[in-house]
Amino acid sequence: MKIKSSQSNSSKLQSLLDEADRLKKQIHQETLNQQELEQKYFSKNGLFTLISKQITKLPANQKPQAGKVINHLKQDLLNYIEELSAHPHDPLTQQAKIDLTLPGKKPIVGHLHPISQAINEISGIFEKIGFVRVRYPEVDWDWYAFTSLNMPSDHPARDEWETFFVDQPPHHKKGKMVLTPHTSNGQVREMERVKTPPIRMINIARCYRRQQDVTHTQMFHQFEGLVIDKGINIQHLKGTIDHFAREFYGPNAKSRIRPFHFKFTEPSFEVDFSCHICNGTGYLSDPNNPKQKTKCRFCKSGWHEVGGAGMVHPNVLKAGDIDPNQYTGFAFGWGIERTYTLKEGLNIDDIRLLYSSKLNFLQQF
Ligand code: DAH
Repeated sequence: MKIKSSQSNSSKLQSLLDEADRLKKQIHQETLNQQELEQKYFSKNGLFTLISKQITKLPANQKPQAGKVINHLKQDLLNYIEELSAHPHDPLTQQAKIDLTLPGKKPIVGHLHPISQAINEISGIFEKIGFVRVRYPEVDWDWYAFTSLNMPSDHPARDEWETFFVDQPPHHKKGKMVLTPHTSNGQVREMERVKTPPIRMINIARCYRRQQDVTHTQMFHQFEGLVIDKGINIQHLKGTIDHFAREFYGPNAKSRIRPFHFKFTEPSFEVDFSCHICNGTGYLSDPNNPKQKTKCRFCKSGWHEVGGAGMVHPNVLKAGDIDPNQYTGFAFGWGIERTYTLKEGLNIDDIRLLYSSKLNFLQQF
């Protein structure tokens, strides 16, 4: 391209713009490869280099317009060359070569949050043995969260639940409103719903407590089992817990119950599951020296504590209008986050990560 010095200023600009337009079209007709194109357009005497030099000869007031066009041209040419390197031309047809046999790019597909997956798995395990999945309010009256569970309003046992109270006028019978600190509020609600046993409830819901550290989040989930019928005893409770352990953690998992105290069950227990890392032994052996044993640092002597359970207290049955002389029942309540993070291979040591919205963490599950 040559721009004669005798040209007027406006025709100089016009021919520069025309030239830019021509170049933009020309590159699409080229049959050269990426390197050759770079050479032809961008080397010292390349077509683009020459045209861009013409800007210096324009009067100052035309330079911005010409500069813009030249910048766009440069970007178009470079994009074309880059695109060509991804899809080289077929030497015979001169068409861009597209390899149709290459696997396609998969669109990103989301999935359920790990805790939603755990909720589905847990409800499935209990539904298969006849439990009915229910959900009760997460903002509920004190009566359901405490008083009906044999915890009168001045009882110190309530302190354990680190409760958030809602700033609302109290109900004349059911008292203050709380963010439910446990799913046990579903017990008397389920008795009211079913009225006459048998009851086989699995209540899964969010719970709230004033606690936050590596093993606690202020919002978490619990699942609550409740079975009431004639002749229900501790063996039914233990059998149900063992069944859950095997289904959720694998065939070798074991459970144990230890005496404890809850106001709403008598007798009461804490429930432990065996540690899958040391196989419930509490010790790890050195693979190079099997006789050398070290204490397992993942559990307490082979066991993980998961939650509470017990035989429903007669006062709780009475609060739900069920005759304790005819019916007995068992109940249990565990945190989903805690129960889930103990699964083999998960190694989640800070449960707050589950609610951090960090996609690179969540996408692993
Ligand atoms: N609600 C108790 C808690 O949050 C757990 C619990 C213990 C639930 C014993 C029960 C039970 O149903 O029987 O700590």
